[in-house]
Amino acid sequence: MNALRRFIGRLPKAELHIHIEGALEPGLAFEIGRRNGIALPYSSEAELEAAYDFESLQDFLRVYYELAQVLTEERDFYDLTYAYLARAHSQNVLHAEMFFDPQAHTGRGVPFAAVIEGISRARMDAARALGIRSLAIMCFLRDSTVADAMRTLEEALAYKDRIIAVGLDSAEAGNPPGKFKEVFERARGEGFRTVAHAGEEGPPDYVLEALTELHVARIDHGVRSMEDEALVQRLAEMKIPLTVCPLSNVKLGVVSEMKSHPLREMIEKGLFVTINSDDPAFFGGYVNENYEAVQEAFGFTARQLYGLARNSFEASFLEPSAKRALIARLDECATSNRGVLEGG
Ligand code: ADE
Ligand code: ZN
Repeated sequence: MNALRRFIGRLPKAELHIHIEGALEPGLAFEIGRRNGIALPYSSEAELEAAYDFESLQDFLRVYYELAQVLTEERDFYDLTYAYLARAHSQNVLHAEMFFDPQAHTGRGVPFAAVIEGISRARMDAARALGIRSLAIMCFLRDSTVADAMRTLEEALAYKDRIIAVGLDSAEAGNPPGKFKEVFERARGEGFRTVAHAGEEGPPDYVLEALTELHVARIDHGVRSMEDEALVQRLAEMKIPLTVCPLSNVKLGVVSEMKSHPLREMIEKGLFVTINSDDPAFFGGYVNENYEAVQEAFGFTARQLYGLARNSFEASFLEPSAKRALIARLDECATSNRGVLEGG
């Protein structure tokens, strides 16, 4: 293993864009399906993985929702969340902000309580046993109705203390952020932070709309912002963090290959970029594999990798004192790896 790869492994980092349902590994999906008496339309893990050859976001979402159907009990959400947090911890993730899609479950008759209680209990246990911090972000499905999103928000109010923010995900094209203006206004009024997927498959206008109509604190993906120079300037001036997911972008055809990803230009134009895994069980890697892939494609130095990890803490929803404590751990790592950092 080369020195930079080892450095990536040791680097303390935060992950800010991970869908918990997207961390459902084939083995766990079959195990949970078996215990719940829910059969997946695949005869084996290998056959399931063979379906992970996506042409588009829509193509991926079909399999993502299909697999999510095995999740019905509180214990399932617990196992899924704990497995992700343990894996993230093994990659030196000190803090994770995890999306969850309640409507993908409540729409099938699963109680909202089972989803949030399972996730919350796993977060607490992982914090105690492993020391990993985490927060939960509830996403609305943008291809569902506004009324359904509003009902979901109302259901979430009883669990306000366990949900830091609301977000927007699922099929982007044809579902502009402005559709959810009222829902986000209500959410902000209730004290939730806000984020939204925008500029993944959708146009740069959707990124602008997420800023001006939803008043989001971060943009998830945002890679297509690069098609609009004025928008890039605005994002840079406002220091809006973008949670970029490089392996996801390649897997879903947002870019044709890693070398054509605009990441380097995004950084050069002053955008506040973080690196994340999106749906790690489907896209060939967790957060470290994403750092490794961009290091390899763009020849990033240890100092640039340190900068990306630092951004991940700065862009998080942690309290300022917690941010400072985690950044201090990042800096300790930098000090003890001075040789690698001075090498470039
Ligand atoms: N839900 C899970 N992964 C997603 C992605 N990459 N984009 C939009 N919605 C999602
Ligand atoms: Zn995502």
